[in-house]
Amino acid sequence: MPITLHMVATLDGFIARKNNDVSWLETAESVYEGGEAMSEEEVAAFIKSIDCYVMGSRTYEHALEIGWPYGDTPVVVVTSREWPAARKSIELYSGDLKALVETKLAPRYRNVWLVGGAMLCRRFLELGLVDEINLKIAPSLLGEGLRLFDGPVAAERWNLKNVVAYKNGFVELSYSTR
Ligand SMILES: NC(=O)c1ccc[n+]([C@@H]2O[C@H](COP(=O)([O-])OP(=O)(O)OC[C@H]3O[C@@H](n4cnc5c(N)ncnc54)[C@H](OP(=O)(O)O)[C@@H]3O)[C@@H](O)[C@H]2O)c1
Repeated sequence: MPITLHMVATLDGFIARKNNDVSWLETAESVYEGGEAMSEEEVAAFIKSIDCYVMGSRTYEHALEIGWPYGDTPVVVVTSREWPAARKSIELYSGDLKALVETKLAPRYRNVWLVGGAMLCRRFLELGLVDEINLKIAPSLLGEGLRLFDGPVAAERWNLKNVVAYKNGFVELSYSTR
């Protein structure tokens, strides 16, 4: 079961403004004529292929605030707090991350996406729990905000597997450890 780390970063390496704002993610206009555009059916099929999302508690709280984008797909929220889950599809997890992957995710899911934030992604990388990195670069500079990874990560070479440029100016880079 591969774990894919997915994040969207600006050209200057930020994933959110200081106040958590991610409105720069939404660019409706077509800016790059040579780019691809995914149809609604393609987006739906792609999303359907993800059978579990994993996220840190701050990403979770922000996703609830802006309107839950994960539908009924199972979501594991990593937190040290004890609090009620806001939806049936959500499971809160606290404890060892390696154990989370080996005992909870691997036996149940085929395609797990780790979707932020900076803090949890860095921890997963440090522990060697990420198999693939899917990084989207947004056509914006933010100047300041929350950095892609919250602090240093281990130096490691990743292999580029795919590049897709989209009509909306975003570029998707896919990397794998192998
Ligand atoms: N651009 C993008 O692609 C993207 C993607 C995701 C998120 N974001 C943005 O990023 C921001 C949130 O990121 P963030 O880095 O501040 O926070 P985060 O990684 O989403 O969440 C951090 C929290 O996760 C829990 N956590 C992390 N590691 C843990 C561990 N090893 N064991 C137990 N709990 C652990 C802790 O929760 P407790 O404090 O509850 O214990 C910690 O406070 C939001 O603004 C969000 O909108 C952007």
